[in-house]
Amino acid sequence: MAPATVPPRPPAHGVTVWFTGLPSAGKTTIAGLVGRRLAEHGRRVELLDGDVVRAQLSRGLGFSKADRDENIRRIGYVAGLLTGHGVTVLVSAVSPYRAVRDEVRAAVERVGGFVEVHVAADLATCRARDVKGLYARHARGELRGLTGVDDPYEPPLAPELALDTAAESPEESAARVLELLGGRTARVAPVRGAAEVAARGAATAEARAAQALLGSRP
Ligand SMILES: Nc1ncnc2c1ncn2[C@@H]1O[C@H](COP(=O)(O)OP(=O)(O)OP(=O)(O)O)[C@@H](O)[C@H]1O
Ligand SMILES: [Mg+2]
Repeated sequence: MAPATVPPRPPAHGVTVWFTGLPSAGKTTIAGLVGRRLAEHGRRVELLDGDVVRAQLSRGLGFSKADRDENIRRIGYVAGLLTGHGVTVLVSAVSPYRAVRDEVRAAVERVGGFVEVHVAADLATCRARDVKGLYARHARGELRGLTGVDDPYEPPLAPELALDTAAESPEESAARVLELLGGRTARVAPVRGAAEVAARGAATAEARAAQALLGSRP
């Protein structure tokens, strides 16, 4: 059988990695670890974290469905701009609604790559971590509309990667993301160190699946 051919891509092709999941699932933690590692390997990386964005670009937006969707569209817009300029964009935001996530994917894929990562800790684990005290505030009746408790969370149906952060360490989760990106990173913009990442990644079924997936996308 002839080997699958991968269409050539311009060297400045970027990618958005979109981490979605419940509060305290581990999105910010993993994005931070992945970002540091990629930067060490010479990639241009930008982090778009939900908390930071809500204090800046989305200041004034609340937590209704309309405002949550608007927040995600704004993040997606900036992610698309950066992706089109060859940046690896790491988005960490709850992003509870599937439709707007898919909308952002379609927009970003017009200018570069898009990888959806479901940071999939179960609710009990997230509640026990409660990094920002949101679950406790909700239990005390000080907060309503908490995602996964009394507000919807629509998990991705076909994410490129799902991480069970209740069962693995932050370092293991980050390594799986880097493995997935390995082929893409090396193929798109070779940098010092990326070849080793790609060589490791290519040895896994996950990376092979990613290669096939990426090769089939325009
Ligand atoms: N595999 C893992 N990946 C990420 N975080 C993990 C993992 N295992 C345990 N943790 C811990 O879970 C917590 C996750 O907190 P983090 O702030 O990253 O969550 P978040 O998804 O960004 O939440 P929020 O939506 O509220 O911003 C951290 O204390 C982290 O150390
Ligand atoms: Mg966070």
